[in-house]
Amino acid sequence: DWSPASFIESTVAELKAQLGDDKVVLGLSGGVDSSVAAVLLNRAIGKNLTCIFVDHGMLRKNEFKNVMNDYECLGLNVIGVDASEKFFTELAGVTEPEGKRKIIGKGFIDVFDVEAHKIKDVKWLAQGTIYPDCIESLSITGTVIKSHHNVGGLPEKMHLKLCEPLRLLFKDEVRRVGRELGMPEHLITRHPFPGPGLAVRILGDITREKVRILQDADDIYIQGLRDWGLYDQVWQAGVILLPVQSVGVMGDERTYERAVALRAVTSTDAMTADWAHLPYEFLGKISNDIINKVKGVNRVTYDISSKPPATIEWE
Ligand code: XMP
Repeated sequence: DWSPASFIESTVAELKAQLGDDKVVLGLSGGVDSSVAAVLLNRAIGKNLTCIFVDHGMLRKNEFKNVMNDYECLGLNVIGVDASEKFFTELAGVTEPEGKRKIIGKGFIDVFDVEAHKIKDVKWLAQGTIYPDCIESLSITGTVIKSHHNVGGLPEKMHLKLCEPLRLLFKDEVRRVGRELGMPEHLITRHPFPGPGLAVRILGDITREKVRILQDADDIYIQGLRDWGLYDQVWQAGVILLPVQSVGVMGDERTYERAVALRAVTSTDAMTADWAHLPYEFLGKISNDIINKVKGVNRVTYDISSKPPATIEWE
């Protein structure tokens, strides 16, 4: 019968047998799955594991710095790559959701590939793919709803063998394994975050200024959820920057600025999701804080759509 401890014991033994003295490269995203995969592999093969964390410029506020720090504390051998300039350049003027996803997916592979091949004799690519990732990529009808950039693509191009130690686990099991491995609670309970990051939460074209606005609004919202003890009650949350301007009034000045949507959902596997019934007082406080503190935003809305028929992300 399944327990985190027995999973760790048998997986570490299997990884040792499978990988021997081979060198392995793993892409870290800051999320729970890739982090748990990295710690598990680190336990099995130690310094033969190199992790790469690519900053595409679409991460949350201060995320790159904070997460790099977490990884170093976990004793992981990690290379951080700031590739944001490349992504801002390639994304300039692109408005179509799948277009953004393709650019980020391909750009990520290019950057990762260059870094990975700096590692001498690397033979394996490890990924934190979990069971629902595999399912959602193979949608039953054959229709691609959204191209997830962390599934497939990499190994063929890189001529590496694929190692996916978490591929049979669900999210809650991954979290239990992470806890058993002694990882810090804030890493374990972290909400899922899409691979293309804030790029799919900025509707319309992407600029550094829009990313700045969204990061600031998102930071207020996420910190607020933590302060109010609501963070762990939702599956994930984030802010969406809408391609809409509306009229407002600040002091005795007319404003004509952007609107954002707050999103928070409850779910068990992201295949279906319900909008979270957050307290009105909380929503009111966050709305005030965002409008008062984030220059460029004068209206806050709350998304009350469930999945299906909506999806969690807006793009
Ligand atoms: P949707 O929007 O399809 O999202 O309901 C389902 C879950 O997947 C996350 N998501 C992604 N995760 N790479 C990822 O690793 C991606 O490209 C990607 N796109 C969406 C989303 O945040 C939600 O948790």
